[in-house]
Amino acid sequence: MPRFVPLLLLFLLIAAGCAWRAGETAEVRRGRELIIKAGCNDCHTEGYLAAGGVVPEDQWLAGSRLGFRGPWGVQYPANLRLLLNRLDEAQWLEVAAKMRTNSPMAWSLLPSLERDDLRDMYAYVRWLGPAGEPAPASLPSGVTPTTEVIDFPRAH
Ligand code: HEC
Repeated sequence: MPRFVPLLLLFLLIAAGCAWRAGETAEVRRGRELIIKAGCNDCHTEGYLAAGGVVPEDQWLAGSRLGFRGPWGVQYPANLRLLLNRLDEAQWLEVAAKMRTNSPMAWSLLPSLERDDLRDMYAYVRWLGPAGEPAPASLPSGVTPTTEVIDFPRAH
């Protein structure tokens, strides 16, 4: 094998890595920071808390089968990778502006963010691209879930 072949392979690998990272704009990077700091992965990424946050980024925000049981019945953290790839930016801003009270999610947070923050979050999730399956459908109060659940008495 000629001596330059390992070097060439290394170069190709780096080039492929750069191509994969392509499109990672300042908005995407800011969106990632916001998602991390706001703790969205805690619920919307399967096994994130149990793994101490060590889950490959390409699996982030693909929803979870760990349900939250409360007065609302059982609700599952939505697959944001599928949802945001279905919505255009204006639709996302509408969803994020809607305050909900019948949910374990701290819904006061999203409506309180600046539009630019929400736009950056959107850019980031779109950059990640669609992945995974939709989260299980929510269950009305009194129906026994077939997945694991966390008992969650009220919104926080
Ligand atoms: C405590 C767990 C928890 C955290 C933290 C959390 N979510 Fe949620 N989220 C849920 C659950 C459960 C649902 C499903 C119930 C609902 O729609 O309110 C949900 C629903 C949503 C939906 C609605 C999906 C739809 O189909 O309408 C969006 C959008 C969303 N979350 C975004 C976020 C973002 C962005 C963050 C970080 C700022 C976040 N969530 C943090 C648990 C959480």
